[in-house]
Amino acid sequence: MNNLPTHIAIIMDGNGRWAETQKKNRTFGHEKGSETARLITTYCSGNSEIQRLTLYAFSTENWKRPKLEVEFLMKLLEKYLKRELPAYLENNIRFEPIGDLSAFSSSLQKTIKNVCNATAHCTGLIQSLALNYGGRDEILRAVNKLNENQTPITAQSLNNALDSVSDVDLLIRTGGDHRISNFLLWQSAYAELFFTDTLWPEFNVDELEKIISQFKKVERRFGGVN
Ligand code: IPE
Ligand code: IPE
Ligand code: MG
Repeated sequence: MNNLPTHIAIIMDGNGRWAETQKKNRTFGHEKGSETARLITTYCSGNSEIQRLTLYAFSTENWKRPKLEVEFLMKLLEKYLKRELPAYLENNIRFEPIGDLSAFSSSLQKTIKNVCNATAHCTGLIQSLALNYGGRDEILRAVNKLNENQTPITAQSLNNALDSVSDVDLLIRTGGDHRISNFLLWQSAYAELFFTDTLWPEFNVDELEKIISQFKKVERRFGGVN
């Protein structure tokens, strides 16, 4: 039996370094990276084995970056969502953000909500963008929510109170670093981890297909014996 890549999560890293190779500003890398996000999303929406694609777009730690870069990323996100809405609808993709959206401007929050509502009926791929997302922050918000509602904390209730309730099967990080950077800490407990040196703007469908075919051959034991 092959593993199914039901939930793929990607740490899209390396935009800044790619821009440097082009002798351009880091923002140029983010712009190009947003095109890679579109290509990979479109591919995943056409692959019926993949039900959910979670893309790490902005972490709770990314606010530490220079103000101009953060502002650029906020504008790019808004532009991306507005531009991609027709493609979401055409490809039957449901958009579901995760993260603490309350930190964003009201205009960006409105755009995010609008794309969520407009794609709520879509039954194909779920594209989940991690926005102001941190795994620790997500777990803390979930625990506080359960406490407020006086719900006993169990693995099930905690899981269901998270922003993202689905375990990750395949976690990919581009850009050469071998770390999780606070992404999907709970959901990746038994994810298969793949790291590639390719910088995100140069990542492509061919490389994703190769990773998926390697993933399918892995023996996943989940602590048991096969
Ligand atoms: C990832 O690329 C995109 C975001 C974190 C928003 P980086 O901007 O981290 O690019 P590098 O890692 O500095 O090359
Ligand atoms: C992780 O990349 C966050 C995103 C891809 C959105 P970073 O570039 O922020 O991670 P570190 O700082 O190298 O760990
Ligand atoms: Mg980085």
